[in-house]
Amino acid sequence: MPDSTPFMSTSKPESIAIIDAVIITAIATLLYVLFMLLVSTPDFLTLLIFVPAIFITSYFIIKYSINRFIYSKIKIIYRTIGKQKTKPKSKPSQGKSEDDVLEIVNQAVLEWSEEQKKEVAELKKMAEYRREFIGNVSHELKTPIFNIQGYILTLLDGGLHDNEINVKFLRRAKKSVNRLIAVVEDLEEISKFESGVSILNTETFDLNELTKEVIEFMEMKAGKYNSTIERITPANHNYPVIADKKRVRQVLINLIDNAIKYGDLKKGKVQISIYDFHDYYLTEISDNGMGIPEEFLFRVFERFFRTDQARSRKKGGSGLGLAIVKHIIEAHNQKISVRNNSDKGSTFSFSLKKAK
Ligand SMILES: Nc1ncnc2c1ncn2[C@@H]1O[C@H](COP(=O)(O)OP(=O)(O)OP(=O)(O)O)[C@@H](O)[C@H]1O
Ligand SMILES: [Mg+2]
Repeated sequence: MPDSTPFMSTSKPESIAIIDAVIITAIATLLYVLFMLLVSTPDFLTLLIFVPAIFITSYFIIKYSINRFIYSKIKIIYRTIGKQKTKPKSKPSQGKSEDDVLEIVNQAVLEWSEEQKKEVAELKKMAEYRREFIGNVSHELKTPIFNIQGYILTLLDGGLHDNEINVKFLRRAKKSVNRLIAVVEDLEEISKFESGVSILNTETFDLNELTKEVIEFMEMKAGKYNSTIERITPANHNYPVIADKKRVRQVLINLIDNAIKYGDLKKGKVQISIYDFHDYYLTEISDNGMGIPEEFLFRVFERFFRTDQARSRKKGGSGLGLAIVKHIIEAHNQKISVRNNSDKGSTFSFSLKKAK
């Protein structure tokens, strides 16, 4: 790298060594001439050998000392960087020229500072994420807790003996307790996946059979929302997959639950199809509902994320369902995606590995 400042160029070991060698040679020559004048007449032939000899010797001694000094300092810098877990691409060694060594160190320090900057940015992002997460969790827990508190206080204030409200308020309190349990369980599930302690219990099962089971389970809820669930696969066809059955059931429930909740309010239609691909099956769950605004498509899998329409419908849960779904599918090393249908509603698709 070319020197960018005049200071840098005079600070080079060679320049310093030349200047110092000139000074030493001048002083030594002066002393030699004075000494010769005192003892006898100066011998100019000896002077001709003496001056370059002094200059060359002092030049090399000074240059060598500076290099050794620089090298010892560089080693300390390297050790410090090494302790910060940075692996410099090349190591300075005494065999290399000073320019090479300085360039390598310069490069290593730049790399190290770049890494530090990235780490600081990452830490800031994590801190922001944590703050947001805690805010979201407390918000989700606050509503049912305050509801329960309200029901209990009303019951204590005499409502307990009022047959009009006592059972009704107790039922509502129970509903809020269930909501609290659901949020806590979802959070627990996500935290297990994120900390990597969640283990998949894989087995071979028929995806078509499981889909049928889940549809039966969800049919009552679908009815409440004027929705129907349809399976578009041959009834007796087998789709054997190797996966965690309990978790895949959870995935289907969460996706069908959304398709019902955010489907068409008057005549909801949920369709489930399974497609045969090379070494996996692709399951698609589509609805004819509100769809997802394009700008939010890539955010729906974030925990606590809800679109404004979903919020205004007041039927959205806590926004954890899709985060869990994504974790489950990714734990199987598979993919999940979402798209809006060309006419109405949206489609979620996920893949699962075929059982051999
Ligand atoms: N089929 C869908 N159609 C339209 N919007 C959807 C659909 N599925 C999900 N969304 C949007 O994505 C958001 C996140 O969905 P997710 O399932 O994670 O949370 P939720 O349904 O609100 O709550 P939870 O599933 O925890 O009870 C929803 O609030 C909604 O805004
Ligand atoms: Mg959901």
